[in-house]
Amino acid sequence: MNRSAVSRLSDSSAPSASSAPANSSDAPASFGSIRSLDAPGSPSVSFPQDRGCPYHPPASYAPLRTEGPLTRVALYDGRPVWAVTGHALARELLSDPRLSTDRTMPGFPAPSERFDVIRKRTVALLGVDDPEHNAQRRMLIPSFSLKRIASLRPSVRRTVDRLLDAMEREGPPAELVGAFALPVPSMVICALLGVPYADHELFEDCSRRLLRGPGAADVERARDELEAYLGELIDRKRTDPGEGLLDELIHRDRPEGPLERAELVSFALILLVAGHETTANMISLGTFTLLNHPEQLRALRSGRTTTAVVVEELLRFLSIADGLLRVATEDIEVAGATIRAGEGVVVATSLINRDEDAFAGPDTLDWERSARHHVAFGFGVHQCLGQNLARAELEIALDGLFSRFPGLRLAAPADEIPFKPGDTLQGMVELPVAW
Ligand code: HEM
Repeated sequence: MNRSAVSRLSDSSAPSASSAPANSSDAPASFGSIRSLDAPGSPSVSFPQDRGCPYHPPASYAPLRTEGPLTRVALYDGRPVWAVTGHALARELLSDPRLSTDRTMPGFPAPSERFDVIRKRTVALLGVDDPEHNAQRRMLIPSFSLKRIASLRPSVRRTVDRLLDAMEREGPPAELVGAFALPVPSMVICALLGVPYADHELFEDCSRRLLRGPGAADVERARDELEAYLGELIDRKRTDPGEGLLDELIHRDRPEGPLERAELVSFALILLVAGHETTANMISLGTFTLLNHPEQLRALRSGRTTTAVVVEELLRFLSIADGLLRVATEDIEVAGATIRAGEGVVVATSLINRDEDAFAGPDTLDWERSARHHVAFGFGVHQCLGQNLARAELEIALDGLFSRFPGLRLAAPADEIPFKPGDTLQGMVELPVAW
């Protein structure tokens, strides 16, 4: 279910339900959400929870900030796991090979029923530990290098301009997620991989169901449909090669022999899903956040800051991938506690990126700070492979949008615009705008 004005208003009747952090006054007043577990002996806070305000961590995470950097939370089914909330500890643990990303291991934390259902299925890169992970990643690194991504910038700009032309022709108003935030990264990742954009409705729909339900059976079906689609695409490319990373991987000369069909499907799946959902969420939520921070937006529009600075601070502030998942393979003594082998760990990026020891005044959106050491892209060996691409897309998209429409504004009250429910990926469901 999407969060909506109605459900938010009912939440806001809960005691002290403002979701903005205590020292922040920039969240619209009616945003709010509180949920904590009261079973004796169990952790007092459940994870993940809906954000009351889409750009702040839930107010009910407040105890985690004071109890951290290592504390306990309860997953959706009440199972307790470790939660990392401090910046230095997060970087230490995300670099520790005794924490695994293999979701098939017993004890691996499941943030939702949907995840529990799907976690037996293999996932390339993000679901694989070294040395296999390293071998997979090395095959892909050149396609995401700074140099390679710099060469894609002109075509990303053309894509952005074409979509803005269409918005201008047809509006105002416009629904920004469908008209811009989703198609930009979708078109870019299709071109990079060699997936026909004409099929975007199919893979966007599968990816949405895969990441957000509605039910466990549908998640399985979405994964099956997406794998079947990618398998057929790969079969066609074997006899009728095109241009793109998938074609290159299919026909790559390797001493170990060609990649198997299942491996190719697995690579295609993670790159396609990770490559459009995340960036789309950052564009929509980033735009919403800027429109709710007029002073900061004025600084961007008047050239007092650069889009690159804005993107980095928005990545920190929004932490859209909130809850990186790991399981311990050995006992780890850290921060005065022992994480036992087989115990789950969630790395709460939204709190880590608001750690006062790493970022002064962390609940303020501030272009003056250096935010580059945020963990919005993770840290360690699994740090986001697509981060150079994501940064380029975000810069070009936000630059294009605010230059084309200097009077861009929300076309509905901020607290009535639906955003995605509390899971490990945040974003807007819809974003009505006018100019
Ligand atoms: C703003 C947009 C994005 C955000 C916030 C984001 C965030 C992340 C995070 C936090 C991780 C680490 C997860 C973990 O350690 O558990 C990750 C990994 C990954 N991301 Fe991104 N990502 C974004 C865009 C992209 C794009 C455009 C691609 C392009 C294909 C991509 C591909 C990947 C892949 C393949 C991994 C797994 C890397 C590995 O395990 O070695 N991401 N991303």
